[in-house]
Amino acid sequence: MAKLLLGAAVVLLACLELGSAFRLVCYFTNWAQYRRGPAKFKLDDVDPCLCTHLIYAFAGMKENKIAVFDANDLTLYHSFNSLKNKNRNLKTLLSIGGWNFGTQKFTTMVSTQENRQTFIKSVIAFLRGYGFDGLDIDWEYPGTQNKHRFTLLAQEMLAAFEAEAKSSGKSRLLISAAVSAGMANIGMSYEVAELGKYLDFFNVMTYDYVGSGNIHTGENSPLYPLPNDHRYTNLYFNVNFTMYYWKNQGAPADKLNVGFPTYGHTFHLTTSDHGIGAPSGGPGPPGKYTRSMGSLAYYEICTFLKTGTSVWNAPQRVPYGYKGSTWIGYDNVKSFRDKAAWLTKNNFGGAMVWTLAMDDFSGAFCNQGPYPLIGALHTELGISSVCVPSKTTLPPAVPPSHSPGGSGGTGFCADKANGTYADPKSKTKFYQCDNGLTYQKSCVTGLVFDSSCTCCNWPK
Ligand SMILES: *[C@@H]1O[C@H](CO)[C@@H](O)[C@H](O)[C@H]1NC(C)=O
Repeated sequence: MAKLLLGAAVVLLACLELGSAFRLVCYFTNWAQYRRGPAKFKLDDVDPCLCTHLIYAFAGMKENKIAVFDANDLTLYHSFNSLKNKNRNLKTLLSIGGWNFGTQKFTTMVSTQENRQTFIKSVIAFLRGYGFDGLDIDWEYPGTQNKHRFTLLAQEMLAAFEAEAKSSGKSRLLISAAVSAGMANIGMSYEVAELGKYLDFFNVMTYDYVGSGNIHTGENSPLYPLPNDHRYTNLYFNVNFTMYYWKNQGAPADKLNVGFPTYGHTFHLTTSDHGIGAPSGGPGPPGKYTRSMGSLAYYEICTFLKTGTSVWNAPQRVPYGYKGSTWIGYDNVKSFRDKAAWLTKNNFGGAMVWTLAMDDFSGAFCNQGPYPLIGALHTELGISSVCVPSKTTLPPAVPPSHSPGGSGGTGFCADKANGTYADPKSKTKFYQCDNGLTYQKSCVTGLVFDSSCTCCNWPK
């Protein structure tokens, strides 16, 4: 009897391990913590059981090495990676780059093998030091000059990650890339089939097809083109076309994640026409919380639509809405469901969501419960609702002590630029200097300060 029960338990565990065949990759953006009131997005707001992969956006680069970007990133990295204690199947990646990062640092970094190796070594130390499971490269975009060098970077990185996994005995670090949905960009920037051999997955940014710079209104992320419209921007600017384009260029379908936006793009209507393709005079006004012209987060869209009109755009499988002279092309629960069903039917690898913080994460705005959009993907992709905590807790890789040392510009940091410095007297301690103030910090037990990643790392 006991044996039988044990057998049943083993089967049950095996099922839990299996989970969904599809990925649900969700971006966490560190700047959303600075939004106000109910839009403020803290680490506590991340549901560790919602997505299969979480990506932290963004890290930066300094002298060809990966580097922290925001002042409190180190603290957040720790809490972010500790989410794995609550869901042992969760994988975390750190994304480097982003739209505002530009291309110059990437261009310099890939330009020689030596620079690439410097970068790759720093990435390994950094990811291991903070407990990430992989790197996401968000280079927008490599362009003709760097097309082949981008492949070399991926190839050399995979080789280095494999070697590191062998010597450390840990699972190999993952490599993903956020890639363009524009046909012209794809042609210029990526050796698709080659990249398909080296990357673990592609996060295809199948959104922003039409932005507020356009002179006509249009959808942000339509599944299909509009019938009877033969313009380039209609035929090629849709999820179905883009995903098949990537696949037909030689990327394995199961490595391709379809991008889902939790936001919409707004336009300023200049005539009484409020359909798709209506004349637009520019972006709509900024949202109360996201404060950026021409776009609204899903929770702001819910508020907008309370007194506005929404229309289901059946041929394109997405809605649009309008109120007064503002028009919005966006996504809702139905369009997320429809596109997810299309994704599973067409055997793509999974979904990627930009971003966690722009869904109605708390449920305060839309009256649809927390995370209505990403939750719809979770259900549609069949991701297990059973979330198993890990047995062993991860070693915290970030120093817990934040005790200020000297003050008023005395001590170690008196004559130093802001930054992090090794402690010449101790391998396990380091200094953080902020406007001449000295903060001495310690790595947790077992870790030592590593200058190559300016982080606490396992001893070499
Ligand atoms: C989706 O894309 C495929 C491959 O390009 C194409 O054959 C098919 O007609 C498209 N479907 C629609 C509805 O546009």
